[in-house]
Amino acid sequence: MISIDGLGKTYAGGLVALNNINLEISRGEIFALLGPNGAGKTTLINIVCGIVNGTSGQVLVDGYDTRSDFRVTRAMIGLVPQELPTESFVTVWNSMKFSRGLFGKPANPEHLEKVLKSLSLWDRKDTISMELSGGMKRRSLIAKALAHEPEVLFLDEPTAGVDVELRQDMWNLVADLRDKGVTVILTTHYIEEAERLADRVGVINRGEIILVEDKDKLMRELGKKQLSLHLHEPLAEVPSQLAGYRLELSEDHRKLIYTYDAQQNRTGITALLSELDAANVRFNDLETSQTSLEDIFVDLVNKNR
Ligand SMILES: Nc1ncnc2c1ncn2[C@@H]1O[C@H](COP(=O)(O)OP(=O)(O)O)[C@@H](O)[C@H]1O
Ligand SMILES: [Mg+2]
Repeated sequence: MISIDGLGKTYAGGLVALNNINLEISRGEIFALLGPNGAGKTTLINIVCGIVNGTSGQVLVDGYDTRSDFRVTRAMIGLVPQELPTESFVTVWNSMKFSRGLFGKPANPEHLEKVLKSLSLWDRKDTISMELSGGMKRRSLIAKALAHEPEVLFLDEPTAGVDVELRQDMWNLVADLRDKGVTVILTTHYIEEAERLADRVGVINRGEIILVEDKDKLMRELGKKQLSLHLHEPLAEVPSQLAGYRLELSEDHRKLIYTYDAQQNRTGITALLSELDAANVRFNDLETSQTSLEDIFVDLVNKNR
């Protein structure tokens, strides 16, 4: 659905915001683009949407070039921008109607009504934008982006600073769109969002894509598991005969932590437990935990500083 080839962007003044970006996104996919502030997420989205021009490379949407076939590609795309627009005297309804018309779609009040209801905005349809709260404004931007039934939806940090309820509504909305076959690309700081929604995850840092991976695969491969043993008696130090396991002792000396790779056939857990027994280390309880996408992300970005 989207094909980005050798894309670069240098802003006037010389700042290189994107450097040789190559990325393919399939129809119906939910793709999360993660990256720290200033990484180039918004620039990338704005280029695909035709709001900013790239300095080099090419972007195709459903095979159409975003520069030479701008009208076609833009009509296929809905964009929920990161920045909330400043005061406006246009009502929620009219802004949707206008946007739909702008992209050359015939009027369809039933569709607009359905979108507004799914965003709990129906009772605000005649309210002007400047009289909406921040959360409502965000909802109205989503409604506007969906007014012309786009095949691709970009959500640029949709849940930054929004309330829990809107976040939940948004997640449901994305699930609905996925069922309809809409391609969704979202950028987020909020990694739990990517963990929940995305089929695939891309990580961008300093204008370069440093990783693109199937989310489940990423979490399987980079995810480490930890086994924590709650000790019966605090230990002064890790017994020397257990040195081979690289165990960590918690600060209060009451927990031994073993990190292992859950993908390996031999995790070493069985051997560890029998050696603990032999060393007379007893424990009351144990638990395992898995690194989150957030841990993986922080690691990756730190490595690429
Ligand atoms: N219009 C602009 N002119 C000059 N530099 C810009 C402009 N927009 C963004 N930048 C710079 O480009 C880099 C990437 O910004 P942006 O794409 O907004 O990142 P992100 O969305 O990941 O936070 C940043 O260093 C930012 O300051
Ligand atoms: Mg941004």
